[in-house]
Amino acid sequence: MKTKKLNVALIGCGAVSRNHGKALLNNEYATLRYIVDINRDHAEKFQEKYGGEILSDYRELYEKDVDVVHVITPHYTHPEIVIDMLEHGFDVLTEKPIAIDRRDGVRMIDKSEELGRRLGVCFQNRLNKATKMAKEIIDDKRYGNIVSMMGLVGWDRSGKYYSESPWRGTYEREGGGTIINQSIHTIDLMDYLSGGISEVSAFDAHLRENTEYEVDDFAMAYFKFNSGATGVGFFTNAYEKSKICDVEIHLEGATLLVQQRGLTITHEDGKREFFEAETLTGEKSEWGVSHSLLINEFYRSILEDKPFIADAKTALRTTDIVNAIHNSNGRFIKVRGYEKV
Ligand SMILES: NC(=O)c1ccc[n+]([C@@H]2O[C@H](COP(=O)([O-])OP(=O)(O)OC[C@H]3O[C@@H](n4cnc5c(N)ncnc54)[C@H](O)[C@@H]3O)[C@@H](O)[C@H]2O)c1
Repeated sequence: MKTKKLNVALIGCGAVSRNHGKALLNNEYATLRYIVDINRDHAEKFQEKYGGEILSDYRELYEKDVDVVHVITPHYTHPEIVIDMLEHGFDVLTEKPIAIDRRDGVRMIDKSEELGRRLGVCFQNRLNKATKMAKEIIDDKRYGNIVSMMGLVGWDRSGKYYSESPWRGTYEREGGGTIINQSIHTIDLMDYLSGGISEVSAFDAHLRENTEYEVDDFAMAYFKFNSGATGVGFFTNAYEKSKICDVEIHLEGATLLVQQRGLTITHEDGKREFFEAETLTGEKSEWGVSHSLLINEFYRSILEDKPFIADAKTALRTTDIVNAIHNSNGRFIKVRGYEKV
């Protein structure tokens, strides 16, 4: 194992950057050196709490002593920034989604493989306690195979959420609404826990009487899984005050309910067991509590040269499923994941 601490730069000091900042405070594997934002005010606010030297253009990083770059910028910027940072020798952890379009994600993966650099994606909920317990139960077949699965998302996004960051709410720059931004975590968990979604038939819509965004605020989907099981998804960010993001999994011998607050196992005789997760204290608890865990896992994957739990290829599958939900209009679309374009 390499003993040196990694030098880190963050690009993008907006809403979710604080989760990255918190993870870097007194981090045993890494030191935050640089923070980059085109908005000086955002960078200064971030710096007050978490430190880092401010740069205004990520290209200033080319000559800096940096090992890892976190890309925490709007969706449409991910391919260009990530590929540029890989080309300049950095390992990259990007926020979700890897890209709006699957084909950009493939280019990003190809570049990371060609240059031998790591590329990870922030799907931190794979490390939530309830997810980890469910994954173990499903994989060791303690209660048999998966029969069916449901993803349920009811978040609340409107008003300031869209006005404070104008890239949100547009197909061009956000790439969609609730499916690609909020529900993507639940869709990722369904793919990750099931052993893979193989086909999707779906409808998405903008149902709210609302002109502040043009993108979808509702979607419903029917999933076929590689295992032969099936599932459904109901996704919205138009449910005021709500923070629901659940995955229910019917196994042959029990039912699992994966939530941010913990895992509930309902047995065939009706008996219930609840395993509580870490306490959710912060705002935006619907994001989950595992950003720091995931970021540390990324650093350890580099230092110990081992696989990363949210590698770019598995993360790209989620973009493909999101694209399929947008494009389906009731037809079945096969999920391809990483496949040359
Ligand atoms: N994993 C999660 O749970 C989670 C939660 C929220 C957001 N996110 C993701 O994080 C990313 C950022 O989302 P956000 O809500 O923080 O957005 P935001 O709009 O609040 O912040 C984005 C920041 O990036 C800066 N920026 C834009 N272009 C830049 C560039 N070229 N160079 C440097 N800085 C630039 C902006 O000035 C802004 O400060 C998105 O991909 C989003 O989906 C992930």
